[in-house]
Amino acid sequence: MSRLVVVSNRVAVPGESRAGGLAVALQAALKEHGGLWFGWSGRTVRGESGAVHEQVEGDIRYLTMDLNRADLDAYYNGFANRTLWPLLHFRLDLVDYDRATREGYARVNAMFADKLAPMLRDSDILWIHDYHLIPLASLLRQRGVGCRMGFFLHVPMPSSDLLAAMPNHNRLFSSLYAYDLVGMQTRRDVERFQDYVRLFGGGKVLADGQLEAPGGRRFRAHAYPISIDTELIASQARAAMSKPAIKDLRASLDRRKLAIGVDRLDYSKGLPERFRGFERYLETHRDQRGQLTYLQIAPVSRSDVAEYQALRQELEQISGHINGAWAEPDWTPLRYVNRNFAHATLTGFYRLASVGLVTPLRDGMNLVAKEYIAAQDPEDPGVLVLSLLAGAAYELKDALLVNPHDLDGVADAIAIASTMPRDKRIERWRAMMDHLRKHDINAWRRDYLHDLRNG
Ligand code: G6P
Repeated sequence: MSRLVVVSNRVAVPGESRAGGLAVALQAALKEHGGLWFGWSGRTVRGESGAVHEQVEGDIRYLTMDLNRADLDAYYNGFANRTLWPLLHFRLDLVDYDRATREGYARVNAMFADKLAPMLRDSDILWIHDYHLIPLASLLRQRGVGCRMGFFLHVPMPSSDLLAAMPNHNRLFSSLYAYDLVGMQTRRDVERFQDYVRLFGGGKVLADGQLEAPGGRRFRAHAYPISIDTELIASQARAAMSKPAIKDLRASLDRRKLAIGVDRLDYSKGLPERFRGFERYLETHRDQRGQLTYLQIAPVSRSDVAEYQALRQELEQISGHINGAWAEPDWTPLRYVNRNFAHATLTGFYRLASVGLVTPLRDGMNLVAKEYIAAQDPEDPGVLVLSLLAGAAYELKDALLVNPHDLDGVADAIAIASTMPRDKRIERWRAMMDHLRKHDINAWRRDYLHDLRNG
């Protein structure tokens, strides 16, 4: 069977302690076929970008490339995270249209292509991930690489009118035509991409669903909703309950119920709105006052980017305000924590929580929602409050679905979730858990790779 080559901005090199479910799934795929994983080294160096480091474990080679400060600022902090990230999350108001970072992004992608092209064989299967690397396939094709190439977009594909607001949008987004398979999280993302191809990209949507680029090249775009290692998370959560971190948290609640949120500190996650929704719950459900403590874990993310620094300040201000107004001498309603926790510990926190709060303003999928479900006690599960604007809402239909902008709706959902009778909770949880057992992360990568191989 052909060799698999994975390319992503971040690479989970051996020994990395924080490798999440996706990294584990990709490693499993690489192990099955032998392969190579290529990306940024996570290091900023002085001098020139481009030094490549190699690590080998079993049949997998990990190759990572250093970038210098200027390249990282233009490619990662700049175009990827100040232009594409807000654009793809429907936030035109935050998009930075700087030409220099756009050129830096193209330059770094070309550097990746220069390093990778000589290593590839035509019999390889190449799988490129996420918005950092959109033009990579087309750059590799220019360098004569002929193998099958697939892309997976982990974030949303927004409405085509938003994409068209970016200067030179066609140059970037038509580079997706060089792939054989473009994977997205949901059907809606695929439909919006089809609109772009038709309305702004000069291409066609054919009767069988294939896409045709202006020169006649055909390729496919299809939805593959990403998922989690459902059984592993269920067993991790069971085991976590005897760990000191979980026992300490339980003891600290003093018999109150727990609501939990776990998100990277990112404006797409709707944290200010969620904090305000929780405050609205305190205001409007006075009968429940003092019965629910909300723990928000929000590890700092992309801290070199100004919008993320501003968000951190805003959250400090709102959380201080909420606790100042509502805390009692023996109760703090909102616990706001910026540090990160081991993944296994988080699964224990999820299991302890009667309410899971996942209310992003936009999210490609949101795996915390799925992990929260997988971590629950089957005899006494908690209730998920989930944003309609997360990809996960297309699958987790038995969650309490909310519009994250509607503070009253969020407040009511929190109140309903924290008092829902056990039989109702079990019924909703079972439906979602059955789905996640069938559609786990291994099914996801198998389905995708099957389609990429067989075209
Ligand atoms: C999102 C993106 C990923 C990214 C992750 C963490 O999930 O889709 O590509 O790796 O955020 O962000 P970071 O900038 O720290 O890699």
